[in-house]
Amino acid sequence: MMFLKTDSARKAAFDKKIILQSQHVFLRAPCLQDYAEWSHLRAKNKNFLKPYEPQWAADSLEKSAFARRLKKQAEEVELDRGRFFLIFNKQNESMVGGININDIRYSIQQCATLGYWLAEDHQGKGYMKEAAQAVIEYSFNTLNLNRLNAACLPDNDRSINLLKSLGFMEEGFAPRYLKINNQWQDHRLFGLCRDSQL
Ligand SMILES: CC(C)(COP(=O)(O)OP(=O)(O)OC[C@H]1O[C@@H](n2cnc3c(N)ncnc32)[C@H](O)[C@@H]1OP(=O)(O)O)[C@@H](O)C(=O)NCCC(=O)NCCS
Repeated sequence: MMFLKTDSARKAAFDKKIILQSQHVFLRAPCLQDYAEWSHLRAKNKNFLKPYEPQWAADSLEKSAFARRLKKQAEEVELDRGRFFLIFNKQNESMVGGININDIRYSIQQCATLGYWLAEDHQGKGYMKEAAQAVIEYSFNTLNLNRLNAACLPDNDRSINLLKSLGFMEEGFAPRYLKINNQWQDHRLFGLCRDSQL
């Protein structure tokens, strides 16, 4: 396998299932043992999440697809191109959502793109704000990134509120930016630079 510019100690720490924590949630990398809970949560939230995500493949909730997803994520970590977390309620250790650092680029950019989802029942509790704060700190202080990007559908008020509350600045509008729910859709673009971190 080809290795890109990689801090091997940093990756090794992640491979040992690094855990990020905040007051009400903890985050860790997914593993095969998460399949039953993950597929249950995703199935329950399918109608809620589908409008905000790339099209769900017919087999997306199958165990084989989950295993493929983990393999792909492991490759991305190995190449230092991504970090992937599930979010758990600290009190009862139940899964509430996920957050990913995608498309990590080093060289002169040192940036990445955030993606996240929460189960509908767990909205409005500040869980994603806590999870995102932990991921932002990890991105800037451990991955040594300089910038995080995020993109929202124009009417995704909850996500836009979340980003603004985290200190992200709205930086632009990109027509037909991402293929979400099988349609090319316009997005509002947000960014957070390390120096402007709250
Ligand atoms: C986007 C998404 C993660 C936002 O979830 P959320 O629950 O609104 O965000 P948070 O977890 O940070 O919670 C903030 C809310 O909790 C409330 N809250 C309660 N206790 C809180 C606390 N201790 N700290 C912060 N907020 C708290 C806030 O008032 C806010 O609610 P409000 O918007 O009704 O005022 C969620 O709506 C989602 O997963 N949507 C579908 C997928 C999606 O859109 N993904 C992103 C694509 S760009």
